Amino acid sequence: MKLFGKSILRRALIFVGALYALSLNNEQILAQEKNQTFEIGEGQFLLNGQPFLIKAAELHYPRIPKEYWDQRIKMCKALGMNTVCLYTFWNVHETTEDILDFKEQNNIREFILLCQENGMKVILRPGPYVCAEWEMGGLPWWLLKKKDIRLRDNDPYFLERVTKFQQALALQVKDLTIENGGPIIMIQVENEYGAFGENKPYVSHIRNILRELYGENVVMFQCDWSSNFTLNGLDDLVWTMNFGTGADIDSQFSQLKELRPASPLMCSEFWSGWFDKWGAAHETRPAKDMVEGIDEMLSKNISFSLYMTHGGTNWGHWAGANSPGYAPDVTSYDYDAPINESGHPTEKFWLLREVLSKYNGPDSLPQLPELVEPIKIDTFSFTEIAPLWNNLPSPVTSEFIENMESYNQGYGSIMYTTPLPDIPAGAILHVIEPHDYAQVFVNGKMVGTLDRRFGETTISLPECKKGDSLEILVEAMGRINFGVAIKDFKGITENVYFTLNLDNVNMTFGFDYWNVYLLPDELNFYESMTFAPIQEFGPGENNRYPRGVYKAKFNVEKPSDTFLNFESWGKGLVYLNGHPLGRVWDIGPQQTLYVPGPWLNEGENELLVFDIIGPKQFISYGMEKPVIDKLQGNALKKHRKDGENIFLGNLTPVFGGAFPQGNGWKRQIFETPEKGSYLIIEALSTASELDYVSIAEFYALNEKGERISRENWTIDYADSEDISDGNNTADKIFDLQESTYWKSDKNAGYPQRIVINMGQEETVGGIEYLPRVENGSPGAIKDYRIYVTELSPSRQ
Ligand code: GLA
Repeated sequence: MKLFGKSILRRALIFVGALYALSLNNEQILAQEKNQTFEIGEGQFLLNGQPFLIKAAELHYPRIPKEYWDQRIKMCKALGMNTVCLYTFWNVHETTEDILDFKEQNNIREFILLCQENGMKVILRPGPYVCAEWEMGGLPWWLLKKKDIRLRDNDPYFLERVTKFQQALALQVKDLTIENGGPIIMIQVENEYGAFGENKPYVSHIRNILRELYGENVVMFQCDWSSNFTLNGLDDLVWTMNFGTGADIDSQFSQLKELRPASPLMCSEFWSGWFDKWGAAHETRPAKDMVEGIDEMLSKNISFSLYMTHGGTNWGHWAGANSPGYAPDVTSYDYDAPINESGHPTEKFWLLREVLSKYNGPDSLPQLPELVEPIKIDTFSFTEIAPLWNNLPSPVTSEFIENMESYNQGYGSIMYTTPLPDIPAGAILHVIEPHDYAQVFVNGKMVGTLDRRFGETTISLPECKKGDSLEILVEAMGRINFGVAIKDFKGITENVYFTLNLDNVNMTFGFDYWNVYLLPDELNFYESMTFAPIQEFGPGENNRYPRGVYKAKFNVEKPSDTFLNFESWGKGLVYLNGHPLGRVWDIGPQQTLYVPGPWLNEGENELLVFDIIGPKQFISYGMEKPVIDKLQGNALKKHRKDGENIFLGNLTPVFGGAFPQGNGWKRQIFETPEKGSYLIIEALSTASELDYVSIAEFYALNEKGERISRENWTIDYADSEDISDGNNTADKIFDLQESTYWKSDKNAGYPQRIVINMGQEETVGGIEYLPRVENGSPGAIKDYRIYVTELSPSRQ
């Protein structure tokens, strides 16, 4: 019988045997290594009293299939690393309140022990918030059922839930600290709190929870940016800095050295690459620059953790989203890291290995573990479909619009329908706010879409008759994981109404009755639908086949890794043999999904796609290499239309001057503050001979000199944006990330102007400007003018 064939039986025996050996080994190792020490010495870390330079590889256990944990750890070891740095992801362990899961893929204890078995130390970063481009920064969505919750703050309910989770986690891992014979040398408190706010009482509270659980002896630290680490720095914690490839390393540590001359230096996140967002170009960072950064740190005795050394995959609905604005992350977390998504070495790996072996000694690096070779799978067609419209569950009725969380739903889609009155042509429908991608229909016929990425909330309605049905289908994507916007409700967050201009008077009309259809992202929900042969359906609007759940069966002779291609599909979520593979969206840049070999069956496999737009063709095939850099349609939006030009001639600047040169923040207060909704930055020259202008971050200050919130900012216009070798669009100046930047086109000349729509009237009394953080701050602005205006400047 195939199911109990010899090879499977043998594999099962080997597996059981391996588990037995693992548990024996671990106990022996724990006992053997008891009473080791890790301490802070004069300007360095000390392991058992000896200087220890941390060379850490950041790896995330939920992003790697468990079957490959060992291979990925061994790859890091072969690269020359001595430590693994990892976050814990609260929301994968506690998907439902009080139901905790530390088994299988969530077995963090086993992952840490595996690190130890491979001779690696471990840095534990238990959050509770972790950022990491992960849904809600690792916080569970159900926290939002308490609508007024204050996340990452001293809110009693938030702290109660944090404490409960941390207690459960500590039961799994607290005996794995170094004093107990385990590999954990350091524990991080919270995560980059300075990029969120200033709140020492809260950060202290988190430290106290961890101290109580892990004891007085374990070294604890907090990580932040060089520009904000003093905001929440606690006296008894080690302070480490986060920065990326290309940053000027000395300047990153200069303030820390002044404040704490005896502190060991560590870059706790050295970004090897960067993450991708839907509809934006694939991000890369040059291998040479990354390796030079690490070389420089090693030569200066600076410890580091390479974020990411292997990024892995945001399975299912776990990808987060960036903010300000809303920029959802793609499924792949390849990160342009040294070890790619399928565990193979890249150019960065080999270059870095060379540098690390220079410091570790020539013969000290182990060989690479076995690599899994990805396979091709021939094109196969889907055969069955369950159209969404024929498979709606029974609705919940509701007087008001409520968000998804109010219906106890965390992920997936939701549809709101209501009967319409007689409406003449010309009415505008307002959906406040669609989170995150809404399709509007009348009687099942598409009226248009509202995409949160572009802040879209209004749509023109056709003429409607009393009793017509308005249908708003809203798909939730990942919750924001960065900045104050992490409290990110899904569905429609406030209300829906329409406006009509009657005899020159704008009238507003509401609705008083809604049918709400809950469409949770759960495999059994999709599978419970009624499927029909696909031949019964033809293409409809936009040449797409119906929205709904599609099923395919395909055969694989010898399972191995592969990359399934979804270029012809619309937008949706994919499951393979019950495993959530992640999200697809034809706009790209990601067009394939990574499939780990162990998730494929020898013989028949089943693929299920829930496509909320509908595919153009219902086929797929397996590729040996991923496609993660292909934008389709007009996905990437620059902020200047063809031939568009703005005219500032009639405007008076609120300030004109020259920025002082060098890295770091520049601040300018105006003599007289100015009111307006638009802020215009006009760069007139740069300090160096470089032929482009660049800005890493930019703030407007109010009349008290405080930073104005950039939550509602959008770019109205930019003279030029160089996206030829990276994602350097103008919105990067307020994306809260100091390592990303706007760059004008080469040789585009001066002036280079950016117009920011601040979303509301503000009184602007000054500005703060951060040039690029790289050595010599390339493209730094010298002469400039600032304008604050009520209206967007006129176009010529
Ligand atoms: C910060 C966070 C990380 C991650 C990186 C960007 O450093 O601490 O979790 O979000 O940014 O990849």
